[in-house]
Amino acid sequence: MSKPIRVGVIGVGNCFSGLAQGIEYYKSHKTKEMVGLMHERVGPYKYSDIEFVSAFDVGKNKIGEPLNEAVYKSPNLVKWTQLPQSKTIVKEAPVMDGIGIYVLNKIQPLKNPTKPAKLRQQILEELAKTKTEILINYLPVGSQKATELWANIAIETHCAFINCIPVFIASDKKWSNRFARAKLPVIGDDIKGQIGATIVHRVLAKLCDDRGTKIHKTYQLNVGGNTDFLNMKESSRLKSKKISKTTSVQSQLKEELKSDNIYVGPSDFIPFLGNTKLAFIRIEGKMFADVPYSLEMRLEVDDKANSAGVAIDAIRCAKLALDRHKGGYLDVSSYFMKHPLHQYSDAEAKLIIDNFIKLK
Ligand SMILES: NC(=O)c1ccc[n+]([C@@H]2O[C@H](COP(=O)([O-])OP(=O)(O)OC[C@H]3O[C@@H](n4cnc5c(N)ncnc54)[C@H](O)[C@@H]3O)[C@@H](O)[C@H]2O)c1
Repeated sequence: MSKPIRVGVIGVGNCFSGLAQGIEYYKSHKTKEMVGLMHERVGPYKYSDIEFVSAFDVGKNKIGEPLNEAVYKSPNLVKWTQLPQSKTIVKEAPVMDGIGIYVLNKIQPLKNPTKPAKLRQQILEELAKTKTEILINYLPVGSQKATELWANIAIETHCAFINCIPVFIASDKKWSNRFARAKLPVIGDDIKGQIGATIVHRVLAKLCDDRGTKIHKTYQLNVGGNTDFLNMKESSRLKSKKISKTTSVQSQLKEELKSDNIYVGPSDFIPFLGNTKLAFIRIEGKMFADVPYSLEMRLEVDDKANSAGVAIDAIRCAKLALDRHKGGYLDVSSYFMKHPLHQYSDAEAKLIIDNFIKLK
């Protein structure tokens, strides 16, 4: 029988709420066909082997709450299913650069936060006490300093690290070498949706390229109505996100487009959309006999089901790597993430993960 996978979560926001509620959904709707799971098993691990044993946030309405209650607290929006009582209590995290200007009225930190050195000590003790073995990072977009702090904590506490956000850790050789030296797996950066705008855009762009057409211009506009989209209104928090999404599409083309001919990015916050994300993709080019063509696509999807459907496999791959004592950057990142260290086509990335799971 497989052992439980002991996961700690950094940022108890919408993405985590979707992951926790999705796992519970499958547990309570056991049918023959597990619709929507990319892998029922990853090696010996079932989705139900994942346990969230520690959790950290800055919202005063979440700190001190059991995890099963914290996931529904404002400004979180996911309400798919009820969670059973959890023994895990959300603990305080350092705010640093976590709270952007547009969410100041939505996330209230503690009035008297614990001093940094003491807080760090408390976090180290919590991770040791709970025997956390994998940390998953769901901090808000733009949390560069806080992510670096948590990556250091992962190394110090001997945890694998999964970086779901567009801050470059796994894809930065300096960091991935540090994880390699510590013999700890790292997966990142910036989680790809199960059927997200980026993966659809990549596949369409590659199709147009592979079929011998010449793409001249392309855009991908995204709108949504949750705190992630609100944070993305702050352009200074968005730099890595745009690099991550644009590189992901460019990497699929034989010849890169000039920067003026490609736009890929979050475009606006529309409050009533909540966790629904709309993506509008357009490709313009020339085909046989220099004849012009264009393609337009609209994707409507729950952005949190999108990320959770991928995270559930990333966690189990990190655990497999821990079992195999494999440290450093994991190439399965290409399957899970928009900004891995090495970009492959999505078909190649699928082979990489299939082979990784099969390894003994
Ligand atoms: N499909 C997707 O949703 C998707 C795809 C790619 C990347 N991401 C990234 O995943 C991250 C999480 O997205 P989300 O929708 O859950 O965001 P969210 O705004 O719902 O949640 C962020 C959580 O982090 C907490 N937080 C803020 N500062 C903190 C700090 N310093 N320490 C600990 N916690 C802190 C907030 O209180 C909140 O609970 C974002 O960076 C987002 O860009 C999401």
